[in-house]
Amino acid sequence: MKAVVLGAAGGIGQPLSLLLKANPAVTELALYDIVNSPGVAVDLSHIATPAKVEGFLPPDDGLKKALTGANVVVIPAGIPRKPGVTRDDLFKINAGIVRDLATGIATTAPKAFVLVISNPVNSTVPIVAEVFKKHGVFDPKRIFGVTTLDVVRASTFVSEVLGDRSLSLSVSVPVVGGHSGVTIVPLLSQSSHPLPASLDAAAVDVLINRIQFGGDEVVKAKDGAGSATLSMAYAGAEFAGKVIRAVNGEKGIVTPTFVNLASDKTGGEALRKEIGEDLDYFSAPVELGVDGVTKIHGLGKITPAEKALVDAALPELSANIAKGVAFVEAPK
Ligand code: NAI
Repeated sequence: MKAVVLGAAGGIGQPLSLLLKANPAVTELALYDIVNSPGVAVDLSHIATPAKVEGFLPPDDGLKKALTGANVVVIPAGIPRKPGVTRDDLFKINAGIVRDLATGIATTAPKAFVLVISNPVNSTVPIVAEVFKKHGVFDPKRIFGVTTLDVVRASTFVSEVLGDRSLSLSVSVPVVGGHSGVTIVPLLSQSSHPLPASLDAAAVDVLINRIQFGGDEVVKAKDGAGSATLSMAYAGAEFAGKVIRAVNGEKGIVTPTFVNLASDKTGGEALRKEIGEDLDYFSAPVELGVDGVTKIHGLGKITPAEKALVDAALPELSANIAKGVAFVEAPK
């Protein structure tokens, strides 16, 4: 199991690489960045777990060497937010970075599972897909936008509302839509642990808003030094760990992720009908298997208020997706 981190020396990249090195199912770990990756790799290589770690820089075909033989590629490369900056504002710089890295994957490791963390995820996932299409290697089942941090935040904040942080490991809330502000739609009515009946509608709205804009709490607290890195690394390693388990044959793993709806034609079509819009990408609970996406689940029974949140997400989501697709068709 060879895992590759592209952007491995960054705020997310380093702790994510640490957590992947700590995963005993990983036997090879390649770390690529435009700076510092060899140092990070040597540091991690002293940890007594099976993975052989190597660091690569751009010279001497570093990207190609890092990606050769990759099974799972995680991409946290690119600039993060600062106060006053939206995820969409990052597009200008990150779109080109993701396009170039996707080109490397498409030419060197086209069968790898690609896990996109770089923002704006709603646009960078379509960028990866379009690059793969250009190279004739597109398999929608293998490209994922990592929305796990939204799921992790939902578990944490719901457990706080329930007054018991120890529940956070078992609280599970499906989060659907996309990965930015109003496109993040937590389905609290389907929480494994129902909210207290005493919680009024205004308090539920506060909770939903906190899950949607949780990233802003971190951006504000870091005060110009970046966005979520440690919680994102935790979430990224959790999602990568699930993909790795599924690839190794474990069945029945279901987790929300932002995918191309063509990856499971039946499920994707049903979901399109449910949301009432002809979108090509959406985040929904997805069952993972040896070949990637095996089943896209529908939204299930949602409340009228949740339906309104899904409706409110659609215009931004649709625009974000179109922007990603257009970038690869005609880069500006
Ligand atoms: P950072 O600036 O600390 O690290 C980014 C790393 O990418 C740097 O080490 C940089 O050298 C590297 N890099 C830049 N261009 C590259 C290239 N062409 N090839 C390889 N590496 C390259 O940023 P941080 O905090 O790690 O965030 C990374 C990305 O993750 C941002 O776009 C951020 O918005 C996103 N993010 C996504 C989340 C999600 O839930 N999906 C949550 C939090 C952040």
